[in-house]
Amino acid sequence: MNLPKKKSPVRLSVLGSGKGSNCRTILSAICAGQLDAEIALIVSDQPDAGISDIAREASIPFLSFPETRYRTRLSEEQESRLVAALYNHGIELVVLAGYMRVIKAPLLSAFPGRIVNIHPSLLPQFPGLAAWKQAIDAGATVSGCTVHFVDEGIDSGEILGQETVPVLPGDTAESLHARIQIAEHHLFPTILQRLCSALRPNE
Ligand code: GRF
Repeated sequence: MNLPKKKSPVRLSVLGSGKGSNCRTILSAICAGQLDAEIALIVSDQPDAGISDIAREASIPFLSFPETRYRTRLSEEQESRLVAALYNHGIELVVLAGYMRVIKAPLLSAFPGRIVNIHPSLLPQFPGLAAWKQAIDAGATVSGCTVHFVDEGIDSGEILGQETVPVLPGDTAESLHARIQIAEHHLFPTILQRLCSALRPNE
């Protein structure tokens, strides 16, 4: 009897600069059998970012690529080192989860159509920093989050999925961000699973 072969998990690298709640949800979805992937490498530009704790707790390799020369991107040399590390770990899909640097040519050309980001607004509204604050300042009544492919622009790549949340009377930037993050934790693993299935069509 031929039993159906189990698909080999897609090898992800999660890149983040902050606390890593999205990384944690991705890991939980994998552990729950809802995402056919493994996190093979966690990367940060901040050696002490919260996301590094997840790597330690889950025994996932962690690498940091600190950058002092530029504030909004890695130097070309540093980004090339990052690409080499991603190749060395056999990474198939690069997942930006709160990674606060713009991705440039070395990484973009090494992983064409294989870099995704989560952004805390309904793009194309409110690209860039603190999108939840932008929504409050603009008097928006609806906000949410977007998962999109990464291109050379700022939060401008092809949209893969969105989830909306209401902006409630009395919301602060913080309370809105907290509500958006709940939606992020649902949307991101769902879209990643769609991408992972597409990467293993015939297994
Ligand atoms: C998220 O709101 C994400 O949309 C934004 O940065 C935040 C990262 O949160 N790009 P976390 O580190 O995953 O908790």
